[in-house]
Amino acid sequence: MKLQQMVANLPALPPLNNNNGLPSSNTDASLPNSSIVNLDRGDTVLLESYWRKMSEECTVEIKGWEFLSYASDLKSVCWFMMPELRDALKRLHALVGNAETSDRHIVVGNGSTQLFQAALFALSSSSSSSDDPINVVAAAPYYSGYPDETDLVRSSLHKWSGDAKEYDKNEAYIEIVTSPNNPDGSLRGPVVSSKCGVEGKLIHDLAYYWPLYTPITHKADHDLMLFTLSKCTGHSGSRIGWAIVKDIDIAKKMTTFIVLNSIGVSKESQTRAAKIMEVVCDSYQRYRFDGSSKESELFFEYSRGILKERWQKLREVVKQSDGFIVPKFQTAYCNFTNQSFETYPAFAWLMCKREEDCGSYLEKKLKVVARSGKRFGSDPRYARINMLTTGDDFDEFLERLSNIEDI
Ligand SMILES: Cc1ncc(COP(=O)(O)O)c(C=O)c1O
Repeated sequence: MKLQQMVANLPALPPLNNNNGLPSSNTDASLPNSSIVNLDRGDTVLLESYWRKMSEECTVEIKGWEFLSYASDLKSVCWFMMPELRDALKRLHALVGNAETSDRHIVVGNGSTQLFQAALFALSSSSSSSDDPINVVAAAPYYSGYPDETDLVRSSLHKWSGDAKEYDKNEAYIEIVTSPNNPDGSLRGPVVSSKCGVEGKLIHDLAYYWPLYTPITHKADHDLMLFTLSKCTGHSGSRIGWAIVKDIDIAKKMTTFIVLNSIGVSKESQTRAAKIMEVVCDSYQRYRFDGSSKESELFFEYSRGILKERWQKLREVVKQSDGFIVPKFQTAYCNFTNQSFETYPAFAWLMCKREEDCGSYLEKKLKVVARSGKRFGSDPRYARINMLTTGDDFDEFLERLSNIEDI
């Protein structure tokens, strides 16, 4: 794949055919009917309305003399991680109950994108099996960033080897398990280990394992888990991700990768992320213990409420149209909310029943830009729709979908 094509494929970049490369507006101004609706990106602006309400509480002030040093905590494996951030994310995981953090090493990164590459470096450079690059696989449909991130620098340590369901080589591999999955929202476990008798390593990408998207059914406790502020609270622009790692040597190698790549992570971003997480935790604490927070001030309930409503509206339109299918999800009991609910994924994996190429069809027919199933190692009859887009874009998309007559 050419470099230019790889760069165009990166998740946060607007497609070149849209608005001269500028992101589509995220203001509330009404959409002219002829405009392109861009639902390709994974932006999380749906969550902006919550953070607008909490604007005062989340404000951080940073003085000119602060944060001059690269270092934060020289006693920690990840010495550029601020103790405030470590404490805040441990508190958040303890509140939600979605991941084990005690006696684990935490590595902060510039988004989980950087941590994914750090994990590939750490796991593949620790693999003793052969001098050949280790195979990296994920079950299709898989997050479209993985193949390009794995192969961008044509490393001699690792190479993209496609769909984990098809993997039958007698060679070492790394399998990425994304649950809930981007793009289709499915809840997943590893698939390769059940078939091959060779050494396999796992990266669990749990970006969407938060009660805004899915019931929290267990405390995840895998060897290497990735999380990101982008999907947890919606602050993609702060570029904060973290890895929870059992093995100290892997955590050290991941730290080395980040040091050589960016000498750490912005302390301004770390400070802001810690503040955002504290605000989430404080509101639950106040609600549960002294009743001084209202339910509408609880981040996960508020956000899930909006996402649930969007899913209900989409299902209604899909039911009426007869031309499309969206996946159904099981209801499960959530240990965090003590309620049962369905998964409400960040993306809708839309299938066009009678079109060979759903992405092109949506673009030509509706001027809606969605990411084609092909980009996820899957069937082009599918396209991925961002459910976390602005209210205007989402409503306009539904309007256009419900007006299609000839599919
Ligand atoms: C499954 C998954 N992992 C990782 C990422 C990248 O996240 P970040 O913004 O932390 O780099 C995304 C972004 O869409 C994602 O969907």
